[in-house]
Parts: sequence; C-alpha cells; structure tokens
Amino acid sequence: MLDVLHGKALARPPVWLMRQAGRYLPEYRELRARAGSFLDLCYSPELAAEVTLQPIRRFGFDAAILFSDILIIPHALGLGLTFAEGEGPKLETLDAGTVDRLAPALDPEKCGRVYAAVRRVRSALPAETTLIGFVGGPWTVATYIAAGGSSSDHAEARLWALGDPESFARLIERLVDASVAHLSGQIEAGAEAVQIFDSWAGELPESEFLRWCVGPVSEIVRRLRHKHPGIPVIVFPRAAGTKLAAVAAAMPDVALGLDTAESPEGVGRLLLASTPVQGNLDPLVLIRGGAALDREIDRIRSAFAGRPHIFNLGHGIKPQTPIAHVERLVARLRESA
Ligand code: CP3
Repeated sequence: MLDVLHGKALARPPVWLMRQAGRYLPEYRELRARAGSFLDLCYSPELAAEVTLQPIRRFGFDAAILFSDILIIPHALGLGLTFAEGEGPKLETLDAGTVDRLAPALDPEKCGRVYAAVRRVRSALPAETTLIGFVGGPWTVATYIAAGGSSSDHAEARLWALGDPESFARLIERLVDASVAHLSGQIEAGAEAVQIFDSWAGELPESEFLRWCVGPVSEIVRRLRHKHPGIPVIVFPRAAGTKLAAVAAAMPDVALGLDTAESPEGVGRLLLASTPVQGNLDPLVLIRGGAALDREIDRIRSAFAGRPHIFNLGHGIKPQTPIAHVERLVARLRESA
C-alpha cells in the first residue's frame, strides 16, 4: 500500500474498503450494542481499536482505517453532537452570526482518546498492514455544521457561502487549522498515511469547488507536509468528475480517490499516469455479487493495470453487504496475482 502511494504500480493492487469497519459486520453490531452509543465507541481507545481491527482479522485487508468519524472535529471544537439510532448525526449548528463561537483549538481530552486508539491499533496490526488516519474535507464538514446534520442538497452551507463568503471563509479556515492538527496527532500516534474525505465536493460549481474544496484541502496538505515531509495523502473529492483535473493540478503529489462514476478511461485523460489512484468498485455491485461482481473486479483491475492503483470501493460499504461477497473480492484480487 505504501509503495503504491509512493508511485509504484504493482501487479496485485493492495485492497481496503471505505467504511470497512461497520454495520455489515456482526462483530461490529455486537460491540456497538455493548458500547452504548456511537460516540462512546469513537472515544473509547480500547473499543475503537478493536473495531478498527475487526475487518483486518476477518479479511486481511492491506490497510486499516482508524475507526472514528469526520464529525469528531466539530465536536472537539465545542459543537454538541449526538448520533440517534437510525437517524444519523445531530450537530449543533453555526451560521454567519455565531461562527466565532467555535473553540480556538481542538479539545485535547477528546482528541487524546482518538490518538490513544491509533497507538493501540498500530501496536496490534501486522507490520505489513498500513494504518490510515483521516479527516473530512472542510467543505463536507461545513455542510454538517450549517445544516445541523445530514442534508440532501446542502442548501444551508451553499446559501451561507453565497450570502456571506467572509464569515463562511472563517469557518473553513478554522476547519483547516483543526484538520492539520488532527491529522498531525494521528500521524504522531502511528498513522502512516491519511485520507481526506470530501464527500460533498462534487456538487459545487467549478469556482466554488476551487474556493471551498481545492483551496482548503491544498492548504491542509501543504501544512501537513511541512510538519511531516513525505506523508502519503489520499484526497477523495467525491463526484468531482472532470474537476478532478483541477485537484491534481493543485496537488500533484497526492493520491486521488475515485468515486463510482469515474471511468478509468476518463481518469486516463485527466490525470498523469504516475498519479496513484484509489477505487472505484460500485458498492451496489458488491451487494449484488456473482458474475457481475467478478466482471467488475477484473475490469477495474485491468483498466488501472500499469498505474499505481489501490483497489477500493467508489464510496463506503453499505450495511446490507453480504460478508461472502467481501471475501470473494479479496480472494479474486489475490488468486490472479
Ligand atoms: O471507514 C471506516 O471504517 C472508518 C470509520 C468511518 C466512519 N465514518 C464510521 C461511521 C469513516 C472514515 C467515516 C467518514 C464519514 N462520516 C464520512 C465521509 C465518508 C462518506 O461516507 O461519505 C461522512 C459523511 C460521515 C458522517 C456520518 N457518520 C454520517 C452521515 C453518519 C450516519 C449515516 C450512517 O452511515 O450511519 C455517520 C455514522 C457512522 N460513521 C457510522 C460508522 C460506522 C454508523 C454509526 C453506527 O454504527 O450507528
């Protein structure tokens, strides 16, 4: 995995899956029920480490991703957060008038628990398994802060950014500072690569995409690399489409996460052949399984052959995914090496 992130093309692509620790695993559901709440799970170094390791034990993925959430940053900046069963996150909102209420720095007690989980995972992981730390992209996190949780079209954040770009820029700057600090904390605790999940980047028109996604994420990468030279970074600007070229132009030294809608041929036209890419099996094809799954695995693998490629989904694994299909995926990638 680290070789690929450093630009090497391998005959057998390394594999991990976004959201690989989660509700499709019975051992996760069992531990989640015992923990009480999702946040209790995130802030318990012992349980968060255990959940991170569950998919590694079961499937032997080439990378583990820390079990946590992108909303830990706003929570550690003082915004109330709960995850109601089956309802998704409920986050305290900010707007143009209240943005300066955000704490000046991350709560060390909360974040210390996250870094303790990272240390536990690193010491328990096999040496060859890469540990990935992460944050959400500032734009994506801002959509949750503006809406107080999930929203369908992110109108709250978009209208704030359109109506009062100065105060929205202050929110984004605070999230950039917190992201650099949080990624550094994870790296210092043992994360060997980091991913920036900008899940809602693609919906923005080009000029806003450049201002609220490419600019802030580039700033995070620049400042992070100043502290941790050479740290591999995967940027996942979901649904960026052809705007991926702008991401690669601004950050020539990162790996790019490709969502389900990107085609390898399109990517071939937009990106240099040396840029490491990650993706992009459709999570619904993984649910479907069978011959369609085999065909898609082979197609993606051969389309990216010869370029540095990490096999992954195009978005997070869904709770209804059969475990046997994940086993099939890993076996197929390894049997034909
Ligand atoms: O990938 C992993 O296994 C690591 C852990 C991880 C989680 N969330 C755990 C989680 C990661 C990397 C995330 C990222 C995340 N969180 C994103 C970006 C990636 C993406 O999917 O687009 C976003 C947008 C969030 C915010 C979030 N967290 C939402 C909207 C929800 C509720 C919806 C849902 O899937 O339940 C969560 C909760 C959450 N985060 C769960 C998990 C395993 C489910 C909580 C539960 O067990 O009840």
